Amino acid sequence: MNYQAILNIIEKDLVNYDDLGKVADYIPELAFVPRHKFGMNLACISGENFGFGDHQETFSIQSISKVFTLALAKKYAKGIWKRVDVEPSGNAFNSLMQLEQDKGVPRNPFINSGALVIADILVSTFDNPKQVLLDFVHEITNDTSIAYDEEVAASEKKTGYRNVALVNYMKALGNIRNEIDLVLDFYFHQCSLAMSCKQLANAFMVFTNDGILLHNNKQILKENSTKRINALMQTCGFYDEAGEFSFRVGLPGKSGVGGGIVAIHPDKYSVAVWSPPLNEHGNSEKGMRALEELTSLTGLSIF
Ligand code: DON
Repeated sequence: MNYQAILNIIEKDLVNYDDLGKVADYIPELAFVPRHKFGMNLACISGENFGFGDHQETFSIQSISKVFTLALAKKYAKGIWKRVDVEPSGNAFNSLMQLEQDKGVPRNPFINSGALVIADILVSTFDNPKQVLLDFVHEITNDTSIAYDEEVAASEKKTGYRNVALVNYMKALGNIRNEIDLVLDFYFHQCSLAMSCKQLANAFMVFTNDGILLHNNKQILKENSTKRINALMQTCGFYDEAGEFSFRVGLPGKSGVGGGIVAIHPDKYSVAVWSPPLNEHGNSEKGMRALEELTSLTGLSIF
């Protein structure tokens, strides 16, 4: 398969596509990112990378980080599934409504409420969860240059009222164990991780490759864990657009309001795309098109 030739076609088809999406501005710092940024990188199980455009420029990964924190929680903590469910929410990522109906147990770990419970679990498990997360991301990418963007974290701290509401509500119902400020500080930092498409594609190779790192052959996550995390990406990775993403792209994946999307084809490749304008569900509009084109042109989706 000539992945580079296929990526070149996608770039040519979409680079001038006038998308109707809107760059996220509810986190003020994200509004400064130029809307025309566009990059894509595919990491192949062979160890090669292919890419185009702004694929080596870092951006705010936001909710994509929820896959890393879930992987860490599964590796080090017990009892996760008593506190977070594994069902698609069919609602917006920051919805409050369902949480009341479900008595403070979030539908899944990828909506904000679920990721806040996972953050609480990691705050309980580690003395310095921010460092543990950073070390984990460095290890799976074999790249120690990856860092938190303190300006993005501070920007979200100033305006993250919905997350403050979610965490308080869950604390009231007994599903948050730590001080709210500690949980939010960790959560805002995980979302602020700055990574490029190339770094993300390499990071997600661990989910493509049954928990084994390509660069040193180490089994860092159990095969059974990556199976379950990939299933959750398939059913819950795109909030109330998970069905549409499955229908059009046909891969497990995860999006973030920074305009990034990562998707994986087990045992074959992982791929990341970045285009900041978002559709009404908070997913990158051009990113979804690019991935749809990738699985159409390669014929490689999981279905
Ligand atoms: O908590 C928030 O609202 C953001 N830090 C992350 C949301 C997000 O990326 C949703 N993804 N599409």
